Amino acid sequence: TENTLAQPVGTTLDRYIMRKQAEFGFATGELSQLLRDLALAGKIVHRDVNRAGLSSIIGSMGQHNVQGEQQQRLDVEANIRFIRTLTNGGEACAILSEEEDDLIQTGNVQGKYVVAMDPLDGSSNIDVNVSIGTIFSIYRRVSAVGGPATRADFLQGGRAQVAAGYILYGSSTMLVYTTGHGVAGFTYENSLGEFFLSHPRITIPATGPVFSCNEGHWFDYPQYVRDFLLQCKQQRMSGRYVGSLVADYHRNLFTGGIYLYPPTAKNAAGKLRLLYENFPLAFLIEQAGGRAETGEGPVLDLEPVDFHQRSPLFIGSPELVARLLSETA
Ligand code: AHG
Ligand code: MN
Ligand code: MN
Ligand code: MN
Repeated sequence: TENTLAQPVGTTLDRYIMRKQAEFGFATGELSQLLRDLALAGKIVHRDVNRAGLSSIIGSMGQHNVQGEQQQRLDVEANIRFIRTLTNGGEACAILSEEEDDLIQTGNVQGKYVVAMDPLDGSSNIDVNVSIGTIFSIYRRVSAVGGPATRADFLQGGRAQVAAGYILYGSSTMLVYTTGHGVAGFTYENSLGEFFLSHPRITIPATGPVFSCNEGHWFDYPQYVRDFLLQCKQQRMSGRYVGSLVADYHRNLFTGGIYLYPPTAKNAAGKLRLLYENFPLAFLIEQAGGRAETGEGPVLDLEPVDFHQRSPLFIGSPELVARLLSETA
């Protein structure tokens, strides 16, 4: 790991994006602008989240989304914030969101990118003031510029992502992303209203002390998962589970560890959604030196067929994921 103190201090996200644009020669700066727009929406949601207890945005909306889940007010609020910001920004021609049945055409027919997202991850933690997040995944469209986006734009597969990341609204708000050249993390400075580069090159430890899963589902887990978890306990590893994927993932990225959302008897594909939860986090973990598997192969090799399809997720330190897979043999 490198000495972060040796890094230049005071690099804003905007400046970092510009620098990388020059380094990797993104042709036109449109992806850079899109990343800045996502960060802007993230700041707005950060503000909403931080005063949620004072305004009327906690609690349930009293309606269900396409997932069959009760929508929380902040799910709906965050969804609107991101859609509006990306629509005004102009670079995304369409958005796929956890909270919407179908893709949203932004009307930016000249936009070259599409964004799949989980606007607010960890909804069950909103009302109890526990960390929540946002996850995003970006593709370059395959449909013709000048017309509407198509389903195919979103079903290119995880390896076609050009950028992905997440925002964690935690004890600090952080934005962590990759464009396929490593992973960088930025911490939000409230009083200045800027994200600053705080973690220039994030890599996950090869192994680590943490396993994260919902042990309430123990009796529904496949035998190989239970065998693996028993091993973790025999080795006196720590169990840590926030219940917000972004928060659990972020912790394990830094401490080393493994996050599991296994298939269950009732849900053969688990709970997490491939396009806007598993694909982006899998892309990012591979860029950080980690692994993401479904139990039947790498997450990124899974062929997507449906916008809201689910898939099992085993993600984190490479040695731990490898050990889990050895139990499937
Ligand atoms: P979301 O809030 O975006 O619907 O995602 C919820 C997900 C994820 O954040 C979390 O890891 C998982 O649901 C928790 O599920 P369990 O309650 O089954 O543990
Ligand atoms: Mn949800
Ligand atoms: Mn989620
Ligand atoms: Mn969500």
